[in-house]
Parts: sequence; C-alpha cells; structure tokens
Amino acid sequence: MLNRLIILLFGLYAVSSVDAAQIPCWKLIWETGAVHGEDPELVYANGLKVTGARQYPLETVLFDLDIDSNVMASVAEADGLLVGEGFSPLLEHVVANGGVRIRAVDLWYEEVSFPDTIDGLAMKAYIDRNRGYLVKGNALELPFADNSQDYLWSHLLVNNLDDDSQRATEEMVRVLRPNGEGRVFGFRYDFGLQVFIRKLRNQGHEVRDLRKTIVLHNVEGTIEIPLVLLIIRKGVAQ
Ligand SMILES: C[S@@+](CC[C@H](N)C(=O)[O-])C[C@H]1O[C@@H](n2cnc3c(N)ncnc32)[C@H](O)[C@@H]1O
Repeated sequence: MLNRLIILLFGLYAVSSVDAAQIPCWKLIWETGAVHGEDPELVYANGLKVTGARQYPLETVLFDLDIDSNVMASVAEADGLLVGEGFSPLLEHVVANGGVRIRAVDLWYEEVSFPDTIDGLAMKAYIDRNRGYLVKGNALELPFADNSQDYLWSHLLVNNLDDDSQRATEEMVRVLRPNGEGRVFGFRYDFGLQVFIRKLRNQGHEVRDLRKTIVLHNVEGTIEIPLVLLIIRKGVAQ
C-alpha cells in the first residue's frame, strides 16, 4: 500500500514502447491514466521513465534541499544546474535571487503538446515563461562538460530512477567543478546508499547525509516517508 502511494504521489509516469521523441510524454501519461490517480503503469519510453505530474511548494523544496538564505545568496555569479526540475518553483526563485547563470534540465522541456488539464497548462506556461533557462536532457547523460558547474540541485528525481539513482548522482558529480557543491534529495536510507557514500568519499569528495521526512496527505490520511539528502562537495583532485 505504501509503495502504491509513493508511486502515485511522486507523480508518475509515462511508459510506452513508442519513441518518446515523437510522442509528448504528457500524452503518454494521460493515456496510461496516471493523471487520474488510477493505478499507474510502469512503462518506459526509450528506456526512461517520464514523470512530472506534481508541483511541490517552494518552501518544501528549500527545506528538503537544506537551502537557507546563505546558500541562496551563493547563486549569483555562479553556474548552476537544477536536474529533474520539472515545473518546480525553485528555478524562478533562483533567478529572482540573481542566479541568472542557472539551467534547469528535464526530459520533457521541448515537448510542444500538452493536455488541456491544470498540470498540462501549468507545464506549458512554465516552458513559455522560462524558455531561456531550460535544457532538454537526461540526468544519466547530462549535456554539460566535465567540471563546468559551481552548484547542482536535484529534488525528488533520484527516487524515480531506481537502480540508476547512483549513476545519475555520479553524472552530477562529473559536471561539478572541483569544490563545487551538489544537493541531491530523494534517496532511501539503506545499505546500498551507505556503500555509495563510502565510494564517493574514497574518491575524494566530502559527503554529508541528512535524513528528512516528507509528509504527504491524501484522502486516506497522512503518510510520512523518510528520505535522504546528500550534500556532496567535489574533491579538488578530480
Ligand atoms: C517528481 S518530479 C520532481 C520535479 C521537481 N524537481 C520538483 O521537486 O517539483 C521528477 C522530475 O524528474 C524528471 N525526470 C525523470 N527522469 C529523468 C531523467 N532521466 N532525466 C531528467 N529528468 C528526469 C521528470 O520528468 C520530472 O519532471
């Protein structure tokens, strides 16, 4: 039951045997029934899950990523990425704080067709407002050079990637500059994560793990889900 709720509330997900480049992900989501809150199907387009249905409030995103006013003040004059940004309010908040060298990355940013629903219209409006900051791309193969970013934030992407969550995180570390900082939220705290943290530390990166609890409300009540934020400072000898 918990797993079903997590899947629903994290905003699922289109999958199909068709080519994702040809069919807008939102069309796929619509057709699988995921947006109706029915049992979503785990389907893959080009081997990727495509998600995007839920918008989290800015305060929640800032809390989960442990971003206070000092951290936010560091975005001006810095190159940064938001990975799996969806249509979150974080991008516009960063820009409003002077972080104009920010880019947000997601799978669906160049889609031209969205369903006539509240979420579909919000996604389209988001693209229209922020076009200059958006990059269509895959977290597993970020279209950015090694050592090119001062900071990188990712909110509730890795929980969607299953076995690829560590690979995506290593990809994020690749694009960070030495001494750059990544904040990646959404890991389950388990043995695999502990081993992964040790691996990152052995590679010379500083890693802090902070446990957070996200609270979700639905008609059946409130559930609390413990998830982990990793704050990774890239080693200088990379
Ligand atoms: C649950 S949403 C979170 C969106 C946003 N970060 C927020 O907190 O509101 C997950 C987002 O990750 C995107 N996503 C999923 N897999 C991805 C991948 N491999 N590369 C880039 N983005 C991906 C989805 O399209 C979706 O917009």
